[in-house]
Amino acid sequence: MKAGVIGYPISHSKSPIIHGYWLDKYNINGTYHSIEIKPEDLKSKIKNLINDNYNGFNVTVPHKENIVALCDELDDTAKKIGAVNTVVIKDGKLYGKNTDAFGFIENLKQNSKIVLNGSKIMVLGAGGAARAVLYGLLDADASEILLTNRTMEKAVTLQSLSPSKIKIIDWVEKEKYLSDINLLVNTTSLGMKNQPALEINLQSLNKNALVTDIVYVPLMTDLLTCAQINGNEIVTGIGMLLHQARPAFAAWTGVMPAVDNDLMAKVLS
Ligand code: ATR
Repeated sequence: MKAGVIGYPISHSKSPIIHGYWLDKYNINGTYHSIEIKPEDLKSKIKNLINDNYNGFNVTVPHKENIVALCDELDDTAKKIGAVNTVVIKDGKLYGKNTDAFGFIENLKQNSKIVLNGSKIMVLGAGGAARAVLYGLLDADASEILLTNRTMEKAVTLQSLSPSKIKIIDWVEKEKYLSDINLLVNTTSLGMKNQPALEINLQSLNKNALVTDIVYVPLMTDLLTCAQINGNEIVTGIGMLLHQARPAFAAWTGVMPAVDNDLMAKVLS
């Protein structure tokens, strides 16, 4: 098995640690490389990967959208999300997948008892990550999603994923809606190391609501710490990163790997 992750810059990527861990754990002969590709070189460098007999690669910032046009086929999720994070190369053809929504949902499933079917959810943010999160929540049959973003037009664009289920609320009024939700998700970059704080007062949050953050540096964001103090159940964001990698590894090797504590410790260290 020969795979890697493409991005620019690429030094921050945790994917080599994750896939390297699974290659060892499952005793699979293979290599996983960090591949820096500048946006202007995307097409030519991908050709090199095909010629070098890669089985596929993961895709990270800033290529997730631009790779779509270079794929020969896309799975339904990648089509709907409009972005690809995993490519399988077969007979010189590129098959694009998106496993971010899977990663988000599997993280909640593994680390909480939340029933998403019929639930009422608030999603903060309307960037690329929000699109995958919304797709996952809709696929899991959430009944209502309150979507809010600093820039409302971006939320309006995402509403087209399901106009009947996604309701847009004003960014400055989000606290008013916290009392009857089952799940609060932060998909913004607020609260991430070197980014501004996410300012939200959780006092009126439903005590039974689960709170999750896709930010995982720091692992315990201020949002999660406040939620915990408030008595709410929390799920950290690192699991989304780990779980999104599983279907990629499975597609390249035939082995569906598990997320375990040793892997989590390795990625966080
Ligand atoms: P990603 O692909 O990780 O989702 P992105 O597409 O750049 O990254 O989205 C970043 C998200 O964080 C957006 O929802 C953004 O809000 P805007 O659409 O208004 O830019 C949100 N975000 C970033 N900085 C923010 C800030 N200072 N205040 C409020 N929201 C912010």
